[in-house]
Amino acid sequence: MVTPKRDAAANQLLEFSKEHEDDNVSVTTTYGVPIGKKDASLTVGYHGPILLQDTVLIDELSHFSRERIPERVVHAKGAGAFGYFEVTHDITQYTAACVFSQIGKKTPIAVRFSQVAGELGYPDTVRDVRGFAIKFYTEDGIWDLVGNNQPTFFVKDCILFPSFIHTLKRNPKTHLRPDYDMFWDFVTLRQETMHTSVIFFSDRGIPASYRKMHGYGVNTFAFVNNQGQFSYCKFHYRTNQGISNLSSEQAQKIAGIDTDYHTRDLYDAIANGDYPSWDFYIQIMTPEQAAKNPYDPFDDTKVWLHADYPLIPVGRFVLNRNPNNYFAEVEQIGFDVAHLIPGIEPSPDRMLQGRLFNYGDTHRYRLGANNLQLAVNAPFNFHSYTRDGESTIHSQGGAPNYHPNSFKGPDNDRRAHALAPVIPLSGDAKRLDSGNDDNFTQPRLLYRRVLKPDERGRLIQNIVSWLKPTNSVMQERAISAFSLVDTDLGEKIKEALNSLVQHHVVL
Ligand code: HEM
Repeated sequence: MVTPKRDAAANQLLEFSKEHEDDNVSVTTTYGVPIGKKDASLTVGYHGPILLQDTVLIDELSHFSRERIPERVVHAKGAGAFGYFEVTHDITQYTAACVFSQIGKKTPIAVRFSQVAGELGYPDTVRDVRGFAIKFYTEDGIWDLVGNNQPTFFVKDCILFPSFIHTLKRNPKTHLRPDYDMFWDFVTLRQETMHTSVIFFSDRGIPASYRKMHGYGVNTFAFVNNQGQFSYCKFHYRTNQGISNLSSEQAQKIAGIDTDYHTRDLYDAIANGDYPSWDFYIQIMTPEQAAKNPYDPFDDTKVWLHADYPLIPVGRFVLNRNPNNYFAEVEQIGFDVAHLIPGIEPSPDRMLQGRLFNYGDTHRYRLGANNLQLAVNAPFNFHSYTRDGESTIHSQGGAPNYHPNSFKGPDNDRRAHALAPVIPLSGDAKRLDSGNDDNFTQPRLLYRRVLKPDERGRLIQNIVSWLKPTNSVMQERAISAFSLVDTDLGEKIKEALNSLVQHHVVL
């Protein structure tokens, strides 16, 4: 029989059996007791009922009913891989973070790529932001940099994040998505979304591969160096595979053929030894520059202009290992923006502030109270005063469980204390809406100066393809909002929509 050439992912089971050729393993229960016959339950005669004493069956079925955990409320569909981060340039003048302490230093990492809005089984090749999260396993504990493939986000205040996400999820009555009325209603009412919308509808809205896209930390963070000096920073990772995107038509076709196109691509590349890599950069802004900057440096709907804040090279990372088990190493991995190591601090970025709470909270719900003890999430070591809880793996033996104590329990870390910045704060607490804070300068620059004419053409087509199914009120409002970005953009969207109406295009 002729077997068609198969990709590495398709051969996974064959590979497993080759690697285990000499194994002779008996099946056991989950408590490790050998099972003599796994093919039949324990019945009274051939047609008799099953006995309650069939503990082997009970073990199997009760585990089966608990196989699923809640999927991520966002970024549910994704793929992961492992590798290392290597420092190539000295940035110790900015940060004392151990991960950057020496040129040549390597730190193990885990990376998860994802799309935002679809559920676990959703096709990979849809127009969406892609998540690009990195977990650094450092000697100072876990640092999670939970980035995306687009440099900005749609909203800048975390209180709006759940609402924005709801507009991309299923309609609460019809259970259908996308619901274009929900999306355009929100986007046109909150016009800080315009910058990220232009990026979202550009070619970069559908990457051809997780390997062929850049990554961005998006939010503003802060660095502290060994002298206690403080600066703000942004993170960038640039693909060495070259940027490559899919047209909407290509993406739709692929979605019908292989829903897991990006997952397969990543798995196969790594299985074939074609290890993807990214160069890692930072941008730095001093507090003095931040105070004078013409736009808010803590507003994640804006980029820091490269002309003013150039990319500073730091290192590179390489992905060279596929997960050994998807559930254990990708579904159960939890990235938490609050996991920062000494030398890296949060900034007042409002989205970041909300994220500092939300990830740990969702992990306690999605993965359980002791999610940080799962192998993929665990630091090299921890010495805390937390104890017990469900599914504890490591409850720290006989060490004292209260602080302070006189019995050699873990004590305050002097270096971490020295690196903790003094944060001067003042002001009246108030709900201040920053939604109309210069929403158009940057998308205008992007449209006029960065996008080439053919890219502008495709941007308009992509916007129109999402606008045509919505109602005329939303269409009018979207044309007005895009006209504020650039009158030409608004005009062209209007023309394209009108020509669809004239040609009686049926939705
Ligand atoms: C206040 C704003 C935000 C909130 C409340 C929020 C909340 C969440 C939640 C609940 C998850 C699911 C985590 C899990 O179950 O493990 C998640 C995942 C994620 N978020 Fe956010 N998010 C926010 C903004 C952002 C922004 C601005 C970015 C861009 C960098 C981002 C990037 C990601 C990524 C990449 C993941 C997937 C992590 C993974 O692969 O496991 N989020 N977010």
